[in-house]
Amino acid sequence: MCGIIGINATEPYTSQELLSRLKKLEYRGYDSWGYWNGTQLVKKVGKIEVSDDQQAVNVAISHTRWATHGGVNEKNAHPHRAGKVTIVHNGIIDNWKELRTGLEAKGRGFRSETDSEAIAHYIDTALNEGKDILAIIKLLIEEIHGTFASLIMIDGDDTLYAMKRDSPLALGVCKDRMILGSDIYAFSDTTNEAIFFENDEYATIRPTGYTFYKNGEELVKEAKAFKWTTMEEDKQEYAHFMLKEIHEEPSVNQRLIDSLQTEQDVHFKELVDLIKNAKKTVFTAAGTAYHASLLGASFLHKCGVNAQAIIASEFENFITIDDETLVIAVSQSGETMDVIEALKYSKDKGATIASIVNVPYSTIERMSSLSLQILAGQEVAVASTKAFANQATVMLALAQEFGYANGLAGMPKKLAGVLAFEPELQKLAQELHEHRDLYVLGRGLGYPVAREIALKIKEISYVHAEGMMGGELKHGTIALIENGTPVISLVYNDDPKMRSSTQEVKARGARTIVIGTTPQAELNVPAESEAEFAILASTLGQLLAYYIALARNLPIDKPRNLAKSVTVL
Ligand code: M6R
Repeated sequence: MCGIIGINATEPYTSQELLSRLKKLEYRGYDSWGYWNGTQLVKKVGKIEVSDDQQAVNVAISHTRWATHGGVNEKNAHPHRAGKVTIVHNGIIDNWKELRTGLEAKGRGFRSETDSEAIAHYIDTALNEGKDILAIIKLLIEEIHGTFASLIMIDGDDTLYAMKRDSPLALGVCKDRMILGSDIYAFSDTTNEAIFFENDEYATIRPTGYTFYKNGEELVKEAKAFKWTTMEEDKQEYAHFMLKEIHEEPSVNQRLIDSLQTEQDVHFKELVDLIKNAKKTVFTAAGTAYHASLLGASFLHKCGVNAQAIIASEFENFITIDDETLVIAVSQSGETMDVIEALKYSKDKGATIASIVNVPYSTIERMSSLSLQILAGQEVAVASTKAFANQATVMLALAQEFGYANGLAGMPKKLAGVLAFEPELQKLAQELHEHRDLYVLGRGLGYPVAREIALKIKEISYVHAEGMMGGELKHGTIALIENGTPVISLVYNDDPKMRSSTQEVKARGARTIVIGTTPQAELNVPAESEAEFAILASTLGQLLAYYIALARNLPIDKPRNLAKSVTVL
């Protein structure tokens, strides 16, 4: 949550460059934004506007916000300025109240309700006391409890300062400039050389050089070359990134399947061996990635592998981890804080850590002893679509190694086939978009899919949708079914239990919509296995959610209150 960019360049540049880079990180938070270029402090509510302001500077910092402390307004937007210090911050300072009270006692007046402003006052106060900036940052890191990726500018000083704990921060190294950003999208169009900050590291950044420190000691850190494609960053002819990203599923799926047999082949086999040798395998993830994890656990379970999927935010409460456990984190961004916390806990218990990620060099990838990439390319829309299809496909590939036959090779073609349902789904969306509540039922592999479809509908169309186990319906939720309530049933191979759950709601007046694999289904998916059905029905659900949101005329790619990457607890 929140994106930050700072640039220190040999030649002056305008706010256009700064803000067009910030725009690449807008998916991390988009309720307000701002920048400081040494003379101008701009703060605005809403989406980033890249102005044609021609003022050129060598050093500037900027921020796009997802509010945690303090409402969405210009006052709380970053940067925050105190005396001669200006900062941007991504993260949460847990002891901000204590810091603020102490600083107020020294006469500091705060302007915002944010936790972040304390950083600016802390530094300015210490500078006024005659302390050295590096000593101040070292002490600040010791005194702050919480998470931060923060950039600091000081009036009259053309160095850019940066510090990080838990929130992501990377330095893009270019010939004529250094670009600090929350992730590699910030600079991947201009350099493939980066240095990733580790916890409690801080750095001084000059236009052609940098020095990293930890605990007052200088560190030797070399830039690493990274591989990343920028091809997918453009919306092309599509009205929304989400629709474009769903349409990319067949091609990115093929890319993934090919790579699991070629450049990722060694890692893939190593992961299979880790699963074979572990006493149990535990997937952990959040949101959509959790639904893919549930599919993975179920695929493996069908082959006799002891596998479970646990929601990352509740990890410690529902699972016992030891040194014979393999924990596999699944994350599109690789930066989800709940997942990072679950991994830290697992590491402390001695577990082996692996991951399945989309964004390379992300924190989760770097925390893992082994990582597979899903190669979905950048997902710009907040709603995860092609990443889910590829996460589920990695699960299929893993299960295949344990004897689960499931049509993996044909998946890209089948995904392309699902796109042909678009006109029908558009029509269905027209019928459904005015309903306030909707239910999605599934059993077995259909259960994670029911939850995934409901999540997609909720997050982009704001319709209350509940995805649940078909068998659980009669234990309470059926009380909510009224005349006309839409209920989507996921029925693989005419499963009699799902048929009767569907009949039960129909008998109470529900408008039932069967997504199945027989001609009786309203949407008949050409799937030859339950696993195939699960993945294809999910894509169908993504399209349905998209067209419901479209019919409701909503900001599909950037739904209210959300951010693509949830980097706070
Ligand atoms: O980046 P991650 O895969 O770790 O993100 C996890 C969830 O925040 C994410 O899947 C979220 O649920 C999506 N907005 C769903 O479309």
